[in-house]
Amino acid sequence: MNDSKPALLGGQPAFPGGIPFVRPPAPPRDAVFARLAPSYDAGILTNGPLVRQLEEAVAELVDVDHVVAVSSCTTGLMLVLRLLEPDGDVLLPSFTFSASAHAVAWNARGIRFVECDPSTFQLDLADAKERALQAGNRPIGAIMATHVFGAPCDPRAVEALGADLGVPVLFDAAHGLGARTAERPIGGHGIAEVFSLTPTKPVVAGEGGLVTTNDAALAEGLRLGRDYGNPGDYNTKFVGLNGRMSEMHAAVALCSLDSYAENKALRLGRAARYREALAIVPGVRCQVVSDGDTSSYKDFTIAIDAEEFGASRNLLVHALRAEGVDTRNYFDPPVHRQDSHAISGVELPVTDSLSAKVVSLPIYPALSESDLDVIVECIARIGRNGAACTHAA
Ligand SMILES: Cc1ncc(COP(=O)(O)O)c(C=O)c1O
Repeated sequence: MNDSKPALLGGQPAFPGGIPFVRPPAPPRDAVFARLAPSYDAGILTNGPLVRQLEEAVAELVDVDHVVAVSSCTTGLMLVLRLLEPDGDVLLPSFTFSASAHAVAWNARGIRFVECDPSTFQLDLADAKERALQAGNRPIGAIMATHVFGAPCDPRAVEALGADLGVPVLFDAAHGLGARTAERPIGGHGIAEVFSLTPTKPVVAGEGGLVTTNDAALAEGLRLGRDYGNPGDYNTKFVGLNGRMSEMHAAVALCSLDSYAENKALRLGRAARYREALAIVPGVRCQVVSDGDTSSYKDFTIAIDAEEFGASRNLLVHALRAEGVDTRNYFDPPVHRQDSHAISGVELPVTDSLSAKVVSLPIYPALSESDLDVIVECIARIGRNGAACTHAA
């Protein structure tokens, strides 16, 4: 291994041109325009035949009866909760993206944050059950679990907890298109799963979301809900919103789906390479993906044990930035620590500790294996020079 100095200590930056955190797998422009042309030329700009095609293609891909395309994953989560009308608080992890909790708050429901597992980073089911049944707490009305970073969150176990508590379960599957358990693709669990199509996701539309469900009544409600609750005669049935997907976004998503399998294989290959190379770096733990499960690897996230590694997570991020490597501290701060959701009295020590340790590394189909190897070399070198880096920072 090249043992030159980290850039933070005056060495040559490994990537003078920089390595971005994400390079969206945007499909070829000509293909998108060709796909869009029939709708565009016919003056159909939103919620038309391309949206229907996308819904059908995804229903087949994730093996569900109904897919309802919406303007974003956040909108999809808001609408599912609007239709479920949970009779009590919604239980969810704090180690997730803010939008999971925002969707609950927009429905004027209480939030019950629970702990995550420090290895898998997923909802801690034992803690969830304990906090759900804690004497003095309001009743639970629904569970919303996130497939964190695209790794399945043991959806059957979450469903079992929902059945135990007698409440519906939905999944924030924003990261999860392409993920699967040994049994089936992510998309068919609980009452609904909701995917995101923003530029950081494995399949992109620019903006967009997909609600997948096997519940026909819910799907029907979602179709109304994304159109203000209007069944067509302008006599709205409930307070929906404008959550429609445009034909332009559907065209991008359909073209993005064309390279889905190839991109998925590339992401899996990159993730395997990171795992193998990082296994020998002391103090670096990769997110554990349960046996038999396949992550979408929307993110490749590691946790740093500062003592063993030689430097803190924050110092590693700083030193990687000096090398030209862009990273994200997903998810830090955890949602219960964010100003928008700071609920007094919530104690989540495992989540706090994990959030302070995590960093997500670049992973995308266009990331070359040789660049990936150099990123790992940088991480190892920063760890070996941790004391000097700490001094220099
Ligand atoms: C876990 C999670 N949930 C929800 C969202 C919101 O998705 P969207 O931006 O499509 O509304 C995101 C966005 O990245 C996310 O990471």
